[in-house]
Order: sequence, then structure tokens, then C-alpha cells
Amino acid sequence: MSRIVVVSNRTPGKGPTAGGLAVALRKVLMEREGFWFGWSGKLTEQPSETARLEDIEGVTVAQIDLTRDDHHAYYAGFSNSILWPSFHLRLDLATIESHWYEGYRRVNAQFARALLPLLRPDDVIWVHDYHLIPLAAELRRLGARNRIGFYLHIPFPTPDALYAIPNHAELMRDLSRYDLVGMQARRDVAAFTEFAEHQSPSTFVGDNQDHIDFSRTEIDACPIGSEPDAFASLSTSPAATKMVKRMERSLGGQRLILGVDRLDYSKGLPQRVEAYEKLLANNARFRRHVHMLQVAPPSRDTIKEYQETSDTLDAICGRVMGHFAEPDWQPLTYVKRAYGQPSLAGLYRLARVGLVTPLRDGMNLVAHEYVGSQNPKDPGVLVLSRFAGAAEIFPEALLVNPFDTDETAEALRIALDMPLEERLERWQALMAAARKHNVVDWAVSFLDRLAPRGTASSATRDILYLASVA
Ligand code: G6P
Repeated sequence: MSRIVVVSNRTPGKGPTAGGLAVALRKVLMEREGFWFGWSGKLTEQPSETARLEDIEGVTVAQIDLTRDDHHAYYAGFSNSILWPSFHLRLDLATIESHWYEGYRRVNAQFARALLPLLRPDDVIWVHDYHLIPLAAELRRLGARNRIGFYLHIPFPTPDALYAIPNHAELMRDLSRYDLVGMQARRDVAAFTEFAEHQSPSTFVGDNQDHIDFSRTEIDACPIGSEPDAFASLSTSPAATKMVKRMERSLGGQRLILGVDRLDYSKGLPQRVEAYEKLLANNARFRRHVHMLQVAPPSRDTIKEYQETSDTLDAICGRVMGHFAEPDWQPLTYVKRAYGQPSLAGLYRLARVGLVTPLRDGMNLVAHEYVGSQNPKDPGVLVLSRFAGAAEIFPEALLVNPFDTDETAEALRIALDMPLEERLERWQALMAAARKHNVVDWAVSFLDRLAPRGTASSATRDILYLASVA
């Protein structure tokens, strides 16, 4: 069976705070021969031309260092100040400095040069996310003929937003150098198709007048998931129970509304707190009987737009506290730090409402993890943005327009008032969908499609299932 090479900007770290995706891909690499390649997290004077190999908790990880300037242009610049806001349809928050594109390409070329010597001809390469769109083109330029797949974890933009990105034609041509491109949702494939079908032919002509040709690239929606049954076990583990006990003591019978998100403008956090404010304003009976907990670990905090989102959120939380808090009651808690999966699973299980309202999101795994962690006898209610990829998977959630804070406030009221029978019915459907879209199947079926013809193996699936149940 061919080896698997996973490539992403960040490599898996040590310790318990790893996200669900990292946990799933580690499992693949523990069961199949291969390695994980990416940035070491270190900034140096000289860029590394060769990768350092290390065993991290049973997985071989190959890492390179970047120079400070290249990293800034590639990560904070082109990836997170241009691609991220444009792909999330926030052109108002994009900052365009055209030289960042050169840094983005330089880092992708550096990745390719350091990765190439580690490759065998039949290795299957799986590249992750928007930081690395040009990687297949750079590898092909150096002569790699391997099967190379790409997975976009964030939404694909509408044609107008794509046009606003400098060098978008080159990026699209780079995408066509992959054998398989996976996207989160049907919505994303539709946006890609609209771009591909309806744009003027000149868009598809690159510098050297070569037409961009997607005829050898398979493009499909392959929605990612979580491990709902692993979350179910985790939610009653000793570490989760410890967190639940702490929270129960401080809640003293109030019902919990929970949000868990990176502190990112795409997550709609100010709108969410405003919706909660309206719930309390419109329904005095909930005051002193509900509590909102928003967990929001800071992210990309060297970028101005992220600092501003953080300030806006501080101000709105302060406003709600000032308006509704009493000496012996606080309406909300806002925690700017990350928690490991066991503590989160406990919080998910305790929460009567999982409030997942991004303005736009690739999938949103918090929605999956919340569903997986529920008590099957007394499940909570998922309030979910219709603009998260997860809305295609979970139609039985209470779907809301996150920009409409009246609608979200009303969904919160309905969730808090929902009788057990309806909660059970909705959760059973949600849990069935979460199981159907679990991350193990996602990884195995993507790799099966990427495998050289005739070598796909369902044996991996069996091995991984055993590993995930263990
Ligand atoms: C999103 C992206 C990932 C990224 C993660 C954390 O989920 O799709 O590629 O790793 O955010 O962001 P960060 O910038 O901290 O890596």
C-alpha cells in the first residue's frame, strides 16, 4: 500500500489541545506508513532547505523553519489578510499588499524543495488548506508525478470575491495541478462551478497564455466530520466530569448556553452576544435562570482586524454585563483561552444549548462535537448558522441567519423552552448524521479516491474504526 504524506502549514503538536482534525489525521498516519510535513513553528535567519524528522507521539513529522519576513508575507499577509477574508466574503476586512504574494509563493516553493527529497514515486500526497494552494504546481515543476490531493477546509468564495484576490488566475491554475480537490459543502462546489463556467475565457489564461484546464482534476464535496462516539465517551471521562462538576457548582441550576470558537471575525461573536442580550431583554423570565459561556481562544493576534474583533467583543460583553448583571448574578462568562478536548466534551454535555453561529464557515466541527457529547437521555439543542457547512449535514438543528440577531434570540428562546420529546427526536437525527459523516470515513474515502487506480483499500477503514473505538 502506498505511503501517505500529509502536508499542512501547522504540524501536530504535543499535548491535549489538538483539534479533532489533527487527532484523525494522526490516526491515519499511525495506521498507514507515511509522515506529516509542515512548518516547525520556528522563525530563523536562513530558511531551511531540508526538513528535520522527529517522532511526535508515534507519528513521523518532518518540519522546516521559515524566515520571519517570508512567514509574515505568507501567513499573516497573503493567507490570513487576503485569502481568509476573501474566501469568507469579508472583502471589507481584507488588506491587500501585492508583495505578499511573492512571499506566499516563496514559502510554497520552499515547502516543495524540502519535501521532494523525502518522497517515493508511489507516495500519495494530501495537502491541506489555503496556505498551500500552489504546492502541487511547485512539486510538479520539480518533477514530482505522485498523486496529489488538496482539501480546502474553508468555504470556496463566490466569483466576485475570488476576482478581488490578486493573482487569482494563477491560484486557479495551481488548483488544477491537483488530481483531487475536496471541498466542505455542495455550496462550495457550486461556487467553484459558477466561477469555472461563467467567467470570461481570459480569466483562465495564465501568464504564458496556457489555458487553465481542470479536465484532469476531480472536484467534489467531501464534508469533514468529527468522531461523535469518541466524544460521547470523552464527555463522561474523569477529566470531563471534573469540568462538569466545577461548572455545575458555579451554575447552581441555571441552564447553560455555550459557544466555543477561535476569536475570529468569521465566527460572528459580537452578533451572538447581541442575540443573547436580546433574549434577556425580551424574556425577563430567563434572567438569573440562564448563563452564557463563550470560550474564545485568541487567534492570529498580530493582525489588526483580529485585535479589533477582540476589542469589539470585550465592549459588547461589558455592555451586557453592565445592563443585566446583579451583585449575585452574572449573565455571561467570556474566557479567552483554549481547553483540551476532554474539558470541552464535558462542557458540551452540560450545555442545554450549543450556540454555533459563524457568519460563514467551512464546516464547523464544534457543531459535530456538541452533538456527539450529548446525554442520549436528556440532550441539548443545537442552534446553528445556516452559513456553516454543517447546516447541510444538520438540517434538524435550529438553523438561523446569524446576521439577524432577533431570529437568533428567538431560536435561543425556542431551544430553552423545547420539551424533552422534541429534543430527543432532533438529537437522534443529528447524531445519526454526525455518525454518517465521521472523520474516519472522511479521511479513508478521500485517500481511497486519491490512491493510484486499483490500489484503494477498505482494510484501512477497518483498522481505523478499531483504533477509534479503542
Ligand atoms: C482554520 C483553518 C486551519 C487553521 C485553523 C487555525 O480552521 O482552516 O487551516 O489551522 O483555522 O488557525 P491558525 O491560523 O492558528 O493555524
